[in-house]
Amino acid sequence: MSSAAPQTVLITGATGTAGRATALALRDAGHHVIALGRRDPGITGITPVLGDVTKPAVLSATIAIHRPSAVISCLASRTGAPADAWALDHAANLALLEAAQRGDVAHFVLLSAICVQKPRLAFQHAKLAFEAALQASGLTWSIVRPTAYFKSLSGQIDRLRAGKLYLMFGDGQLTACKPISDGDLGRYIAHCLRNPARQNAILPIGGPGPAITPAEMGAALFDALGLPPRYRPVSPRVIGTIAGGLKVAGLFHKGLATKAELARIGHYYATESMLVWDAARQCYDADATPEYGTETLFDFYRDLAAGRVVLDRGDHAVF
Ligand SMILES: NC(=O)c1ccc[n+]([C@@H]2O[C@H](COP(=O)([O-])OP(=O)(O)OC[C@H]3O[C@@H](n4cnc5c(N)ncnc54)[C@H](OP(=O)(O)O)[C@@H]3O)[C@@H](O)[C@H]2O)c1
Repeated sequence: MSSAAPQTVLITGATGTAGRATALALRDAGHHVIALGRRDPGITGITPVLGDVTKPAVLSATIAIHRPSAVISCLASRTGAPADAWALDHAANLALLEAAQRGDVAHFVLLSAICVQKPRLAFQHAKLAFEAALQASGLTWSIVRPTAYFKSLSGQIDRLRAGKLYLMFGDGQLTACKPISDGDLGRYIAHCLRNPARQNAILPIGGPGPAITPAEMGAALFDALGLPPRYRPVSPRVIGTIAGGLKVAGLFHKGLATKAELARIGHYYATESMLVWDAARQCYDADATPEYGTETLFDFYRDLAAGRVVLDRGDHAVF
């Protein structure tokens, strides 16, 4: 499908960070947008439908009434905890896909994550299982795997404002990423509907380069706040040891098993880059990581420091 004609598009997850930006971009591109979820995203010009996205009957009824030609899922577990991840990132998406098939939807766009290329965590396996189902579905599909979001790289600003040190793993050079802004990501996802090159394709996507490290992010945050840079290196082994201890304790206590997974998520992001993984060379490849958009993390830091934007990290603080 490459028509420039406006489409009716059903989106789930439009109350989340990426979903809201995508809904706005769809609306601004002239599409008729239906947002299904348990809350109204409150976006002018978008039709909200309140309903449980995990219930097949709700999904089928919404598709039967509104007859979308495309579905975009920005649905995701808010915690990344295993049961929630399988319930949302896999089961709810599968129910949505099946409803889309029954309702003759032509195109299904999935918001996934670049980290599924090296899966070690429950939510990554849940996403991959759904990615496989989508590719086998017979619908036109687009799987968007973004790098890191600005909100996930800005969480320390309040610590620094309070005079605390910037925490970084190792020397702050262990990982790198090409962060993508909400607005650029939303426009990238929305354009999957009109760009044939983004159809039946897995699409790793970052923001404008070059790739940046946590050490550079710390320096830019201090600079934006007009404060002298002060860092505290933390060994990734510390969080790895905590995760290991919680895993053992989790054998006896369900709540601790969830905490163990969250610690493992923290360790993953402390040690893995959000860039395209070169399996042949066994390394991340910044040059091979596609770039899109114009908005930069360091401009965002300046806007945050000046109070021109407000940070809403939701429940993904661990990411
Ligand atoms: N953070 C990053 O740096 C990053 C990088 C790359 C990829 N990603 C991926 O991008 C995706 C979206 O991330 P995001 O930060 O935009 O997510 P988010 O802000 O947490 O939004 C999640 C969306 O899913 C909905 N949802 C969650 N649980 C639900 C439930 N039980 N019932 C109904 N709706 C539910 C939420 O609705 P409510 O508002 O009603 O809760 C919300 O609309 C995730 O898959 C994430 O892995 C993230």
